[in-house]
Amino acid sequence: MVNIGIIGYGVVGSGVYEVIKTNTESIASKAGQEVRVLKILDIRDFPEHEEPELFTKEFDDLLDDRISIVVETMGGAGIAYEFTKKLLAAGKSVVTSNKELVATYGAQLMVLAKENGVRYLFEASVGGGIPIVHPLSQCLAANAISAIHGILNGTTNYILTKMFREGVAYADALSEAQRFGYAEKDPTADVDGHDTCRKIAILTSLVYGSQIKCDKIPTEGIRNITGDDVAFADKLGCSIKLIGYSRVKNGAVTARVCPMMIPRKNPLSTVEDVFNGILVHGNAIGDVMFYGRGAGKLPTASAVVADVIEIIKAPVNSSTYFWKEEKENTYADLGDEETAYCVRVHESALSSAIAAFGNVEITSLRQEIGFVTPVMKETDFNARLSGVKSVISKIKMYTEQGEQV
Ligand code: HSE
Repeated sequence: MVNIGIIGYGVVGSGVYEVIKTNTESIASKAGQEVRVLKILDIRDFPEHEEPELFTKEFDDLLDDRISIVVETMGGAGIAYEFTKKLLAAGKSVVTSNKELVATYGAQLMVLAKENGVRYLFEASVGGGIPIVHPLSQCLAANAISAIHGILNGTTNYILTKMFREGVAYADALSEAQRFGYAEKDPTADVDGHDTCRKIAILTSLVYGSQIKCDKIPTEGIRNITGDDVAFADKLGCSIKLIGYSRVKNGAVTARVCPMMIPRKNPLSTVEDVFNGILVHGNAIGDVMFYGRGAGKLPTASAVVADVIEIIKAPVNSSTYFWKEEKENTYADLGDEETAYCVRVHESALSSAIAAFGNVEITSLRQEIGFVTPVMKETDFNARLSGVKSVISKIKMYTEQGEQV
């Protein structure tokens, strides 16, 4: 029998309890032992719970000798960080879905786990139930990974899908996502791209082998996407998706979060609702796509419990997904990025647009025109755009990466 503790009985924490209860036998057969929840730490009371005696408000109850693994699903990089350090130092393995913590202190916590002969696993921190951390670090280990493009946030994908498919207003779609429990406590982390930023920071750190800090990742969310952008995308044969991407070329790394126009022939454009999709390019495998439920109670709990099972089978830190503290990362100059943009301007700006970008194909929209620029360096694009009058919006176009990807 392996006893575990849970910190934070919210959407994911309660999902972990439920998965362990529902799949007790199959989990026991895979782990080789039964898994039981012994303590749940939460500041709230749950008097209606079927096992109210499990709940505690005392952190020290998790240091109980009978507990060998603690699941941290409270979120944030404050108290969760302090708790995780204490648990690892006390010889408990920790499994987390907390992307903010992994993106901020992952390297340090992995070192601490190693020093204490335990493990710190975080498959659920990116892509919810989709396996991506293990595949990147193990199954694809033979590859040099040169690019990752991911729809990594279920809430924003749900909102954008509703706007596209049903013409639902942004605010109504957000309320629905919150009702389903997809959104973060503060949904600005979703809609302003910070959640995606943390996830692409984790994936990039894995691939690059060194902690990539979120403040090195320019981040733009979906707040400014309007119904008119959606209509323009539709005319271009594209969807708009919030993409977290990173590329490694000649030892230099670029990571960024922004809305992107995705042509319908690209598999990312078909990723809808709360689903996530992650397109990875390796130099041996070529493109490989990971797809599944990126948020929600049971999908995320599925990944957490899988990490618990892994630790039961291999309790000592033999982890291959290990990255170092940020030391001398080389970041590519974003201005040098080769890119194309989809631009909407007032129709009176037609001649200035042609003067700046040449003979681009013009799409007529209501009292507006839209066009796609040729591929050019970002600095070049910005310089030319400054010569265009009445710019209404600009959205990056997903461009094929070829061998560079
Ligand atoms: N708020 C996140 C999302 C939850 O919508 O994807 C999963 O990380």
